[in-house]
Amino acid sequence: MIVSIGADHAGYIYKQPIKEHLMKLGIKVLDEGTDSSEPTDYPDYALKVGNRVKNHQADFGILICGTGVGMSIAANKVDGIRAALVETEFTAESSKTHNHANVITFGSRVNTIDEVLKFLDIYMNSQESQETRHMNRVKKIGEIEEKKWEK
Ligand code: RB5
Repeated sequence: MIVSIGADHAGYIYKQPIKEHLMKLGIKVLDEGTDSSEPTDYPDYALKVGNRVKNHQADFGILICGTGVGMSIAANKVDGIRAALVETEFTAESSKTHNHANVITFGSRVNTIDEVLKFLDIYMNSQESQETRHMNRVKKIGEIEEKKWEK
């Protein structure tokens, strides 16, 4: 498995522990930066990670900023990306099972690193539900992206 990870200056402190956690599990990590606490712009990293997932160079993506909100908004602008802000164990699971999220975002100012690592494990150990109702809803998300409703 390959995971793409990115963070802004606020999320930077969580990037290394998340990388170490993944590497201990034998997962290859593609680190898209940032590499310091110097102020930077979260959309730059959301785009890099989103493109890795979109281009099938990574199985899923992780983005960390202060709240996880900016990263999720920006990553969802990349075609094919379903980015979910994960703040609870419940959303860690349902973002995968119900929404088929292929990018998860965390807020370093919202959750502790221990919580984030727990959420990450829950997400990774959950499966995308193949039930028709969930499949249909995810398909409709793609149709919004393709602007089918406007044609
Ligand atoms: C940076 O101060 C902060 O705005 C950013 O990390 C993030 O929380 C945006 O959504």
